[in-house]
Amino acid sequence: MSALRIGVVGCADIALRRMLPAFAASPRTVVTAIASRTADKARAAADAFGCAAVVGYDALLERSDVDAVYVPLPVALHARWTERALRAGKHVLAEKPLTARSDDTARLLGLAREHGVVLAENYLFVHHGAYTSVRDLVAEGVIGDVRALHASFTIPPRPADDIRYRADLDGGALLDIGVYPVRLATLLLGPELRVHGAVLRHDTARGVDLGGSALLGDPATGAGAQLVFGMEHGYTAGWRLLGSEGSLALDRAYSPPAEHRPVLRIERAGGVEERVLPAHDQAAAAVAAFAESVRQRRTSGAADTSDAAAMVRRARLVDEIRRTAHLVKV
Ligand SMILES: NC(=O)c1ccc[n+]([C@@H]2O[C@H](COP(=O)([O-])OP(=O)(O)OC[C@H]3O[C@@H](n4cnc5c(N)ncnc54)[C@H](OP(=O)(O)O)[C@@H]3O)[C@@H](O)[C@H]2O)c1
Repeated sequence: MSALRIGVVGCADIALRRMLPAFAASPRTVVTAIASRTADKARAAADAFGCAAVVGYDALLERSDVDAVYVPLPVALHARWTERALRAGKHVLAEKPLTARSDDTARLLGLAREHGVVLAENYLFVHHGAYTSVRDLVAEGVIGDVRALHASFTIPPRPADDIRYRADLDGGALLDIGVYPVRLATLLLGPELRVHGAVLRHDTARGVDLGGSALLGDPATGAGAQLVFGMEHGYTAGWRLLGSEGSLALDRAYSPPAEHRPVLRIERAGGVEERVLPAHDQAAAAVAAFAESVRQRRTSGAADTSDAAAMVRRARLVDEIRRTAHLVKV
């Protein structure tokens, strides 16, 4: 099957640094066009990746040499441009979170189904082989029954003009950073989690949250997740999964470089093991997974409704954290 032809809307940092190199390196995808609001940016990015430069996102969606669109825009613009791309019959890989509101997520997934195209959300870490190892170990009972997850993802402050400080662009730590530990919790504790409490530190001048924490739990098993996130911190990106007979812990859990060999710490009554796992290029794996979803959709026409339902449930958890959070004004 011929390579999936990718168009990119917006010369975002994540696109230039991580995803365009991954699309360009994959035998399953080819980048045919990059769009920007400004001609100079489009030209510089297109020259770097040997494709067409397009001014304006609509012009990119009109191109017949684009099968799939990658959307790395500020969160508030994901829904609008994803919808336009879906209506143009394009498959879409949207940056995380797919939208800022679960109703929009549900609506877009319905639209993708109607148009017979793939709509995927770009959490890279879920494609890392380390998580296959973790899930295998949990399934084998290495830590017994899963009881709790402690996870944090915190980063130092960003430059003052960063999109994450813009309320009009749906900035804020929950939507940019907190969504990672929420995604992790659903991966390790399952899909039935509910929100039991949350706190957000709200920057009243800029109208965005700078960080917070949330307590989630599975009402059936009692397993809980304590999640911490923020962009006014030292860097942390680790988690610990506690079981009835031991624990697993991982650092650099969300965006390890392709050459990094993750160290999984396994603690049990018999001792502690630090298991060095294989390096894995999670961006390459995410691109391959997206291309494979499109191939399956094209060949069988089958829609993966389980994925769609899980995406909506996760978006509802994020809505619920925002709706119920105790706001601390700073
Ligand atoms: N999956 C991951 O590992 C990962 C990592 C980092 C970020 N992200 C996600 O990727 C998205 C982009 O993040 P980023 O840090 O790459 O952002 P960024 O560098 O600020 O890029 C955002 C792009 O959006 C376009 N844009 C359109 N309207 C805009 C507006 N009103 N203001 C600012 N930019 C506008 C711009 O492209 P043009 O000027 O070229 O039109 C800009 O380059 C976010 O959703 C973020 O959560 C994902």
